Amino acid sequence: MLEIGVYKGKSATLSPLHATAQEHCLYVDPILNETTNALLQSCHVGEEDKTHFIKSFSEAITTPQFLSQWHKSFHWIHIDGEHTGMALTDDLKVADALLHRNGIVCLDDFLSPRYPQISQSVFAYLAKDPTSFALVLCGFNKGYLCRPYLAPFLRKYIQEKLQADLQDRTEDQFTLWHSTLPDDLNCFGITPRENAPPYRGPDWMPDKVIY
Ligand SMILES: C[S@@+](CC[C@H](N)C(=O)[O-])C[C@H]1O[C@@H](n2cnc3c(N)ncnc32)[C@H](O)[C@@H]1O
Repeated sequence: MLEIGVYKGKSATLSPLHATAQEHCLYVDPILNETTNALLQSCHVGEEDKTHFIKSFSEAITTPQFLSQWHKSFHWIHIDGEHTGMALTDDLKVADALLHRNGIVCLDDFLSPRYPQISQSVFAYLAKDPTSFALVLCGFNKGYLCRPYLAPFLRKYIQEKLQADLQDRTEDQFTLWHSTLPDDLNCFGITPRENAPPYRGPDWMPDKVIY
């Protein structure tokens, strides 16, 4: 598990809470401190040597030594560091080198009107190298990327099981959207339910699942 941009550890605590005792958790942020580190350490069932704090900007994890040590080994990468488009592009390059074939990259502030440069950088990266990642889900200011191998399985999971899994965790209701053809953009969106049904397909066939 890798978290770029930890701050006080709010989202970062989810990594160790989901990690097995054998899995490593790495945290990268120039303002890491003892309090945050102790919190994150306490959330991991693994030995202390499975937790790694890198008190630095994410460029510290672009060295050949780091990239080869952790090559394609991360199952979860959450990017919430510097919010410029330039930094996000660099973090995507790191994620591309480090993501496991069955891993997921979660992007903070994706499609947020506060940070349009984040979305622009993601779409530019995907256009430049379409085989690197597939965008499978967006919503609640997050975007989710995976390797193209995994995308069909994740889309099936999203379509068939995501809502039920969310219902086990919250009473909130959601609408899942797949509002265009797969050849246009094969990505689901998720929003609060409001006045919509649980699933919305394209406007011309709103209850059809096409993915
Ligand atoms: C929005 S906050 C992260 C919030 C955190 N994920 C949470 O859930 O509370 C952004 C963090 O990114 C860190 N940061 C800024 N530039 C960074 C960089 N280049 N590499 C890594 N972290 C960076 C900041 O120090 C700050 O703690």
